[in-house]
Amino acid sequence: MKTPALILGGTGYVAGELLRLLVAHPDLEIAGILSDSQPGESVAKAFPHLAPALGELTFCSEAELTALISTLPISALFSAAPHGVSAALIDRLLESAEVAGTAPRVVDISADYRYSTAEAYAAVYHHAHGAAARIKDFVCAVPEHLRTQPAKHVAHPGCFATATLLASVPLLAEKLVSPTIFVSGITGSTGSGRKPVDGTHHPVRHSDLYSYNALSHRHIPEITACAAAVSGIEADFAFVPHSAPIARGIHVTVQATLAPGITITTAELRDKLRAFYSHSPFVRVLESAPRIKDVVASNYANLSATSNGRTIAVMCVLDNLNKGAAGGAVQWMNRLLGLPEHRGLTAVAPGWT
Ligand SMILES: NC(=O)c1ccc[n+]([C@@H]2O[C@H](COP(=O)([O-])OP(=O)(O)OC[C@H]3O[C@@H](n4cnc5c(N)ncnc54)[C@H](OP(=O)(O)O)[C@@H]3O)[C@@H](O)[C@H]2O)c1
Repeated sequence: MKTPALILGGTGYVAGELLRLLVAHPDLEIAGILSDSQPGESVAKAFPHLAPALGELTFCSEAELTALISTLPISALFSAAPHGVSAALIDRLLESAEVAGTAPRVVDISADYRYSTAEAYAAVYHHAHGAAARIKDFVCAVPEHLRTQPAKHVAHPGCFATATLLASVPLLAEKLVSPTIFVSGITGSTGSGRKPVDGTHHPVRHSDLYSYNALSHRHIPEITACAAAVSGIEADFAFVPHSAPIARGIHVTVQATLAPGITITTAELRDKLRAFYSHSPFVRVLESAPRIKDVVASNYANLSATSNGRTIAVMCVLDNLNKGAAGGAVQWMNRLLGLPEHRGLTAVAPGWT
């Protein structure tokens, strides 16, 4: 029997990618999708590319989703709602489930449960956390970096964070580098969501490339905390993000100086990364420079690395909507439900988009 899946953040880009993955998932089935703005409307209208797989599915209201979650003994709840909204929405749904005695497992793709304290969250997002008492029930990590089973629920790190963590955590955990990590990240426009704003709108980005929030991006504290939690090292991440004229995909380059006394060749470095990710079906370490087109629309992340004997560079590419959001969330949900982590996620990239 398939586990019913529920989605928050209905008309958003990440919700659309979740739908695309869930209609092909062998063990999960879409039971409800909440839209704050369009309850009762056709889901296929919001996502025409998914129409053949969605049939007559309509968005539900929060009241309808609350009623539904209370009748499902087990469910898989994904939140692709905005930060600042997600925590309280999840909290209300979990409260109703607790009263009804049902047991949803949650993966939150927003930033709301990525911090270990409400104070740390408020310091970055400048508003109070929506459900501070729930924070302890969430763990934040990329699935590749936490082999133990989380207690209850998961906060998925963001897309830039996933790429940066995949590239840098092995360097820290294996004590290969001094703990100052320079990160240059490049992202496509879907990373900013469905609503066009100045600076992220397609005509602005088209044929252009520019940095933003250099050394002050709000995801730096999340990256630092996630890396420290799994590697044991509190590194300094100097992160400069860039907007690229592409719709999907992230390319991150991580650079650091080798730790005193460490010597490593390029071949040895790649082998170290391969060994680190030997149990990770979605991470591949290449001999050549990784390219966004090889992973777009898939849950795979490709890495490569180089050493010149003093500095090492690790490159990572992944799809922001898939591995960096919906795919990573499904990977976590598979584990929360006791399914093999790769279920429903092994489709490869189309190559030409
Ligand atoms: N885009 C990415 O590459 C990416 C990667 C990693 C993580 N994320 C995170 O994933 C989440 C969704 O991102 P996205 O790119 O899909 O954003 P998006 O395209 O802007 O969609 C967010 C959706 O949330 C819903 N929403 C907005 N205000 C709401 C409110 N007050 N109450 C309830 N629902 C509300 C809206 O759908 P309805 O009106 O239909 O409810 C909206 O379409 C965000 O937290 C984002 O930070 C995004």
